[in-house]
Amino acid sequence: MTETATAAVAAPALTVVVPTFNEAANVRPLVAKLTAALAGIAYEVMFVDDNSPDGTYDVVRALSREDPRIRCIRRIGRRGLSSACIEGMMAGQGDVVAVIDGDLQHDETVLPKLFELVRSGQADLAVASRYVEGGSAASFSDARGKGSRLATELARKVLKVEFNDPMSGFFATRRSVVEAAAPKLSGDGFKILLDLAASHPGKLRIVEVPFVFGTRLHGDSKMDNRVVADFLGLLVSKATGGLVSIRFLTFAAVGVSGVVVHLLALRGLLAVPSLPFAAAQAGATLVAMTTNFTFNNLMTYRDRMLTGLAFMRGLIGFYLVCSVGAVANVGVATWMFEGDQQWWVAGIAGAAMGAVWNYVFSDLLVWRRKR
Ligand code: GDD
Ligand code: MN
Repeated sequence: MTETATAAVAAPALTVVVPTFNEAANVRPLVAKLTAALAGIAYEVMFVDDNSPDGTYDVVRALSREDPRIRCIRRIGRRGLSSACIEGMMAGQGDVVAVIDGDLQHDETVLPKLFELVRSGQADLAVASRYVEGGSAASFSDARGKGSRLATELARKVLKVEFNDPMSGFFATRRSVVEAAAPKLSGDGFKILLDLAASHPGKLRIVEVPFVFGTRLHGDSKMDNRVVADFLGLLVSKATGGLVSIRFLTFAAVGVSGVVVHLLALRGLLAVPSLPFAAAQAGATLVAMTTNFTFNNLMTYRDRMLTGLAFMRGLIGFYLVCSVGAVANVGVATWMFEGDQQWWVAGIAGAAMGAVWNYVFSDLLVWRRKR
């Protein structure tokens, strides 16, 4: 008994965060590999599982009863690789925190090197890199390989990160680095390392260690179009200092689609005999608001999608928000026009005002954040 009690008191020097979603078949082999690779280091392994349908958390739980260094955060009703990593890093006890994929594609024998670089103070951030001499991502398909390189170039140009593999999901850093960056982390999508490097207030000493990205044996990659959209969103948001979000851009794009819908509906309604123009225009407005609401619900607010009764309630709320937005739009445009602005400047300003208004209040009132 006293054996375990003393062991439990000694704090780990290293927290290894493993984000998982449907990795049940990979957990046992990974833990066996980590145990071998990390012999001699005081470590803990923090799985962060998003309530995987395949019961990954149960496999972790069983293992943690054999080895208390293994723990699992099971998140309910949440998804996302980046946010999982952030929560795992914040929950861990080690002064050094590392992140490694749970699907055996990351070579765990690199971990001790990453750990040592950070522990010894040679690096603030040690990155396992595919794109330095000795590293590779040969297991990628052609398309995925091209996409990865393009994204890497884009990230380096736009965000001015100065290392070779900012898209790697395999790295170690000091806890204090994560804590300093935490308030500014976007937490969306896959790119936690890029997010960290771009959000950290000071200059980071970064050292890259080559590694070979392996092939997946069990389960599937969770990389999809959504992840790519999130990545672009992260770029835009970081490049504009958080001013413009991908959500707003999507909302604006839906708004533009609404103009097209409006004109089509208007043309259709004008074909109805003896329907006055004002009635046709009102009808077209209603149609466009309805399609806008539906598209926003499906895309812009996919993560807070309203269904059933909440859909109807949301739709009515959206009508109201947009009606007030229209008043704001006309108000601003008229005020500017009367202030001797060009008609089109006034028009654009009014439309922009309406768009921002609709966005802010839809976000606040219609697709409310779940707390
Ligand atoms: N908790 C949680 N929630 N974990 C997730 C989620 C999620 O929503 N999505 C993915 N994961 C876990 C997976 O279970 C796996 O352990 C790890 O995150 C990586 O996910 P994969 O789906 O295997 O990603 P990949 O192999 O396509 O992408 C890898 O390579 C990229 C470099 O091209 C990852 O390492 C990325 O981080 C890396 O950027
Ligand atoms: Mn993978």
